[in-house]
Amino acid sequence: MDLALLDWLNLIGRWIHLIVGIAWIGSSFYFVWQDNSLEPTADDPDRKRLHGEIWMVHGGGFYHAKKYKVAPPDLPAHLHWFKWEAYSTWMSGMALLAIVYYLSGPAIMLPPGSGLGHAGAVAVGLGALAGGWIVYDLMCRSPLGRDDRWLAVGVVVFVTLLTWGLTQVLAGRAAFLHVGATLGTIMVGNVFFVIIPNQRRMVDAMRRGETPDPVLGLKGKQRSVHNTYFTLPVLFLMISNHYPALYGHPYSWAVLLGVGAVGALVRHAFVLRHGGRMRGWMPPAAAAAMVAVMVATAASRSLAPTPAVAAGGAGADADAADTLGPVVLRIVEQRCTACHAAAPSFDGFDEAPKGIRLETLADLRQWSGPVIEQAVTGEAMPLGNVTDMQPEERALLGRWLSSPAAAQGAAR
Ligand code: HEC
Repeated sequence: MDLALLDWLNLIGRWIHLIVGIAWIGSSFYFVWQDNSLEPTADDPDRKRLHGEIWMVHGGGFYHAKKYKVAPPDLPAHLHWFKWEAYSTWMSGMALLAIVYYLSGPAIMLPPGSGLGHAGAVAVGLGALAGGWIVYDLMCRSPLGRDDRWLAVGVVVFVTLLTWGLTQVLAGRAAFLHVGATLGTIMVGNVFFVIIPNQRRMVDAMRRGETPDPVLGLKGKQRSVHNTYFTLPVLFLMISNHYPALYGHPYSWAVLLGVGAVGALVRHAFVLRHGGRMRGWMPPAAAAAMVAVMVATAASRSLAPTPAVAAGGAGADADAADTLGPVVLRIVEQRCTACHAAAPSFDGFDEAPKGIRLETLADLRQWSGPVIEQAVTGEAMPLGNVTDMQPEERALLGRWLSSPAAAQGAAR
């Protein structure tokens, strides 16, 4: 597809996804807050019929909302449903996945040296989205689903396995995004397959003059609570693709889970705060956990072997790698050495940024880990892509760096 057109679709897709995502998450935050702020009403102080009411002032007007325990005695003529916010967020997200990842070729989907192929990578990505929903939904419907705590343990174990698995198969950036997209798909699945159908059954029962089954409402509430906890980790994953140091980390799955735990804890504190039930230790604990993740990534990053050395010899044969060396050197001369040289030619640079010179194959071997992170699995380099590096060039660079030729050199 035409590159400029793809860029425009990418930008417009992100814009729409942000707008509808804000509408969805905003209304979901609003209802959680409202649920937790309800006060008993004067005519039903024991909360027999009503959960409570709330008075609000906003935008120059006064609002008065009440929440019923199961349902009101009579249905109003107009009932507002909240569902298109969720559906349109998912649809725009799927369009973005296709534009940014599936139409862009293997360099962005697969780690260097992977034998999976682009179609295989796309299948893994889509399989994670569909399979993730099926496994999660089965867990909720199994006996595990009757106990919220055990179900939570099950969900955490499942997300851990999913994260670990995807980071083993896909490139870091694609893996992070697909964990986020899988959790997002589960959230929308909850709305589409459980919350809305159950609400519809309750409304239908009332139209038939029957009392709706409260279990329907409770099942919907369970899913809604899960969505609450997924929200912040999913948002983190959606913006993480700008940070190669995280998704390019050798233990990226652990980094992801660490930050995910921080997000869930923050959300937990947030929900409790409205009921005045937040514990004092929660905000400092979340901050401390975040600092722990930051320190751990900084420390293990400098200790980790470069992926190229670790993956040395896997796949490509030595002869092919040797012929690739000069090609790769030419790519780097064109795209990187304007800045990463002893005497950079790029305006405003007096020395190689961060002391990283990329003028020989030996230089590339020395910095293979960070180079893969910045320019192969990630696109942080070339800075702002001022030298117009092409996806195929990233793929070639990655292939050489994970080939025996690069690994042998590094071992020498
Ligand atoms: C326009 C100048 C420029 C070009 C071209 C450029 N870089 Fe960089 N690079 C920088 C700057 C500036 C930094 C320091 C960034 C920082 O600290 O935020 C940097 C940092 C890096 C780092 C270290 C990042 C880290 O966080 O440790 C690597 C690795 C790197 N570049 C690789 C490359 C590769 C590979 C290419 C070519 C494909 C390239 N760069 C092209 C300017 C450039």
